[in-house]
Amino acid sequence: MLQVKRAGHSTLTTPDIERMIDYFTRIVGLSLSARDKNRAILATKSGVEAIVLERAGAVEAPRLSFQVAPGSDLGELASRLKKVGIKSERRSDITPGIGEAIAFKDPKGTMLEIFSDFAFAEEDSNFNGVMPLKFGHIAYQCPDVQGVVKFYCDVLGFRASDWRSDFFAFLRCSRDHHTVNFLRDPKTSIHHIAFEVRDWSDIKRACDLLARSDILLTWGPIRHIIGHNIAIYHKNPDGVTIEFFCDMDQMFDEDLGFFEPRPWHQDKPQRPKVWGDDTRSNWWGPMSRGPSHAAAPAPEPARKPSRSAAPALAHARKRQAEKKSRKKTKARR
Ligand SMILES: [Fe+2]
Repeated sequence: MLQVKRAGHSTLTTPDIERMIDYFTRIVGLSLSARDKNRAILATKSGVEAIVLERAGAVEAPRLSFQVAPGSDLGELASRLKKVGIKSERRSDITPGIGEAIAFKDPKGTMLEIFSDFAFAEEDSNFNGVMPLKFGHIAYQCPDVQGVVKFYCDVLGFRASDWRSDFFAFLRCSRDHHTVNFLRDPKTSIHHIAFEVRDWSDIKRACDLLARSDILLTWGPIRHIIGHNIAIYHKNPDGVTIEFFCDMDQMFDEDLGFFEPRPWHQDKPQRPKVWGDDTRSNWWGPMSRGPSHAAAPAPEPARKPSRSAAPALAHARKRQAEKKSRKKTKARR
């Protein structure tokens, strides 16, 4: 088994590379660290490669890179993979920052590029766009979520943080609640890409910047229940959903086995678990309370009151009924 430590970059294909470079630099606030006619490398302002754009007819996310421990022997990792029947190829010059990697496909066909060492791109001191700290996570839709989760856990060393029922999995490879998500769908495709920002003030700044750029939010601001991140979503010019988030659940110690306690957690302590179908999507914001939000556009099913909300609702209903009954009695008098 390998032990992935963090996500490197996602490779996205696009029919209009110029438009996507403009979007990722001007709106997202990444810097263009290298490019040629058909390819562009984008890094965070502090110089960590995050997105690779490639010119192609279809919009897809065909490759994803992960870092293992610095100094790891890639040849030895390839032999380990071979022993469990996975054929990998040695690749060089993946990006300007990643000189060497081994590459192999996951069960849904995404090419994974595993590297141990990387170089920072040049730091960019221009203050523009949202300027995320890092490429936080990527979510894919695929038919066999259980099979893909087994591969990521058994072969790459991921751990399951949470499941929504049996159709939506959240996996971690670091202290972050999730670095990859898999959602069941008949067709394999990218679901969304997420960038981590510093804090809530950066989410507010992102909302203002998107509004000024005539880009509509498609969901949020919200605080999710699964992962508890504060998030906003919009679509990039290729129609791929992009999330900016902060405040994601953190598991600082795998031996403790719970996420750092937070006031908005449902369980004390908050451990990885399977959330029921009736779990609300969000702790606050759209799809957090009441049937009036059920029609709001969102990628997840409408919620029913959770068990934790049920006593409060029952109490409110009882008080309303008592009030009505008092009014009736008054009227009779
Ligand atoms: Fe997400």
